[in-house]
Amino acid sequence: MAPQVFHDLIMTLIPVQGDIVWPSLNTILLGTGATVLLRAVYLLYLHPLAGIPGPRRAALSNLWLYSVSKAGHAPERFIELHRKYNSNLLRIGPNEIHILDSSQYHTIYSQDHAFLKDSAFYDGFLLPHSVTTEPDKMLHRARRKKLSVFFSKASISSFQHLIYDKLDKLCEMISEHADGKPLQFSNAIRCATVDIISEVSFGESLGQLDEAEGPGFETNFLKVLDVMLSGPWELIYFPVLRKVMSKAPLSFQAAVGGANGRAARFAYLIINILRNYFQTKEPIGTVAAGDRRMVVFDAIKDLEYTDLVAEAQNIIIAGSDTTATTLTVAFLQMLKSPPVYNALKKEIREANLLTEQDFDLLALERLPYLESYQPDGW
Ligand code: HEM
Repeated sequence: MAPQVFHDLIMTLIPVQGDIVWPSLNTILLGTGATVLLRAVYLLYLHPLAGIPGPRRAALSNLWLYSVSKAGHAPERFIELHRKYNSNLLRIGPNEIHILDSSQYHTIYSQDHAFLKDSAFYDGFLLPHSVTTEPDKMLHRARRKKLSVFFSKASISSFQHLIYDKLDKLCEMISEHADGKPLQFSNAIRCATVDIISEVSFGESLGQLDEAEGPGFETNFLKVLDVMLSGPWELIYFPVLRKVMSKAPLSFQAAVGGANGRAARFAYLIINILRNYFQTKEPIGTVAAGDRRMVVFDAIKDLEYTDLVAEAQNIIIAGSDTTATTLTVAFLQMLKSPPVYNALKKEIREANLLTEQDFDLLALERLPYLESYQPDGW
């Protein structure tokens, strides 16, 4: 009897016209509903991450993570939820967990480990094959090897005079505004870090400190960087959009606007810098002869055009706002904590740091309070 009932049900749902079997609207709705339901049951109860606590909506789709990321302050929200569920592990997506345990850092981010970068996330930056976004281990290693010479201590020491010059100028500009009125300190630091990383990378400073006006330290480049870094969330969480945009020419991305338009505006600025780099710099052979200091781009100038543009954007982003934010937060914390500020000032005064040479990296590393990871009182 049961097979007959089943047969009748199928025949009601799937009307036959001639030789073609057309599913009815009911069938489509029922099928879709059943699939959604089965998927939800799987994600909530049978998925390998089902035992990890977190909001149900996070387990069901990436839309929860998208909305939390887009709203800003995602890390703070995660910490709240870790507390709420009383767990160091938190499920923040169907296939994603957040871990609140710094002892796992070296396991997860180790260069030798098998954990791969999540390409869905990194592809959203539209910076294909840059050292930060490359998920393929071999390609990543090859690119990293090319760049690594610039991250050695010897290399950093070789351009410390450049850092010193920019910071000297920054201090002068901050002093000019020392009239008791507020100034945009984080923008001031960003101007210096963009100038430093651009000069180290392309041999030409982007001149943000020269361009910055008034206590807001505003510049066009910082404005573009701001909108660019407000987050490519749509491109990360909507794979179809990401696929289309990653193949689209820059002019199309700019015309579309939104996150794509922001990324395209930033890319145009970087292309301009690259154009200057290729027009004005000597070939690498003359560098070895000591004609000019080597810059980061000398090591990768033979890359294909799209890789070159992506890496140039990556390096400017990686080396500017990261350092600027860290310094801004450090200053803020220091000013909030007079004992820390006074101890640091005392140490620097007693070390008699007066000339540029005194601020040598190796000398600074010998100052125990400055070098301490987290001074007492923070
Ligand atoms: C205090 C300042 C900085 C912080 C907090 C910081 C933070 C980070 C973080 C979290 C990553 C991992 C990104 C990921 O894989 O998702 C990273 C990677 C990277 N950073 Fe920094 N960074 C800083 C300064 C710099 C500077 C000055 C540069 C110079 C260009 C730089 C260049 C890079 C590069 C090239 C990578 C990719 C490394 C790789 O995947 O092999 N960073 N940084």
